[in-house]
Amino acid sequence: MFMAHPSLDDDRRRVDAEVDQITGRLSAMRRHLHENPELSSREFATTSYVARQLAGAKVNHRLARGKRGVVTAITPSRRSRGPVVALRADLDALPIVEENKAAYRSRQPGVMHACGHDAHTAMLLGATLALHRAGPLEVGWRSIFQPEEEAGHGARSLVRQGALEGVQSILAFHVDPTLPVGQVCITAGPQTAFCQDFTITLRGQGGHGARPHLTIDPIATAAQLITTIYQAVPRQNDPRDPLVVTIGSIQSGQTNNVIPDVATLKGTIRSFAEATSTAARETVERVCAGTARAFRAEVRPEFDRLLPGVINDAKLAALCVAAAREMLGEKNVVTERRPSLGAEDFADYLATIPGCMMLLGTKGPGKKVTPLHTPTFDIDEKALAIGTRLLAHALLKLGQEPPAC
Ligand code: NI
Repeated sequence: MFMAHPSLDDDRRRVDAEVDQITGRLSAMRRHLHENPELSSREFATTSYVARQLAGAKVNHRLARGKRGVVTAITPSRRSRGPVVALRADLDALPIVEENKAAYRSRQPGVMHACGHDAHTAMLLGATLALHRAGPLEVGWRSIFQPEEEAGHGARSLVRQGALEGVQSILAFHVDPTLPVGQVCITAGPQTAFCQDFTITLRGQGGHGARPHLTIDPIATAAQLITTIYQAVPRQNDPRDPLVVTIGSIQSGQTNNVIPDVATLKGTIRSFAEATSTAARETVERVCAGTARAFRAEVRPEFDRLLPGVINDAKLAALCVAAAREMLGEKNVVTERRPSLGAEDFADYLATIPGCMMLLGTKGPGKKVTPLHTPTFDIDEKALAIGTRLLAHALLKLGQEPPAC
């Protein structure tokens, strides 16, 4: 248990007063971002919007390489050697045609904030402006607005650009449309999966559909390959270790009676341990080699980098839970939940420093759940004020830690 902490209480009063001031702007900021979504690696207007808000409030910051992403200067702790915590949001949207009819729906055809990154960015902007105005605190802090979360490259790129230099831990939110607004979920340990995307190119020799014996049929090869992957991967994995392989794309051919030259498969492997992912990858490679031999085709698998899973630090998660319980009440803080086999590049910060990703309830009362990454995804905007305040409170709570060595 933590002792009452007079300077923390004072910090919290000042920060709360500033959060109260900013709350009225959160929805406008989120709606601006929602109307103007940008895909991974094209977050130029989003970056300049964030930078304008920060410049308007005289928050020192720099743009990341390529003018995609913003990192604020560290506001040091007023204690000597006090801890420095980073707060992180992601900027990018998805290639989805929005079906919502709201006035603030996407104005970019085929691009949509369907993963709540508009809300993440608005909340971090709100928290950044409030913390800045509150003046030096017990805890030092910086804000990181990163590009390319959906592509899985943004976090690693910002780490390489020095975003974590002088920082001891990191916090972030992800919206959760299955959780009622007013609730949060904070659990220690694994949150998201190790993710290994892959592409398999099958090269044969095309010909007439009536004379397959004169061809090397890449579609027949692909059909067998998928079936064998779906058999071999789970049958060679210890069933006590979660693992899923999914082929999400198959492209080949033009018409009924022509056997094409090439087929392409795209898929992903998800697990909670690097060794499990590596073993599954090796199985896919063996199945590709064996199927190539059986069908006389060339079968070439290519694997992207293995994105690690997010694993929340137990001590930081406990501090975030304490901050959330004080703010929202015990019954509104979920602390037990099975991890997701989704992926999240927040993991790339955790290779350097410990951190905690919290889930923020965004489901409105009486509303249907609209899942992430779907054309009707939306949030109850009451969540914005809750997330902004909790981000600030969790940060202050981490400041109670003894000075960093
Ligand atoms: Ni997301």
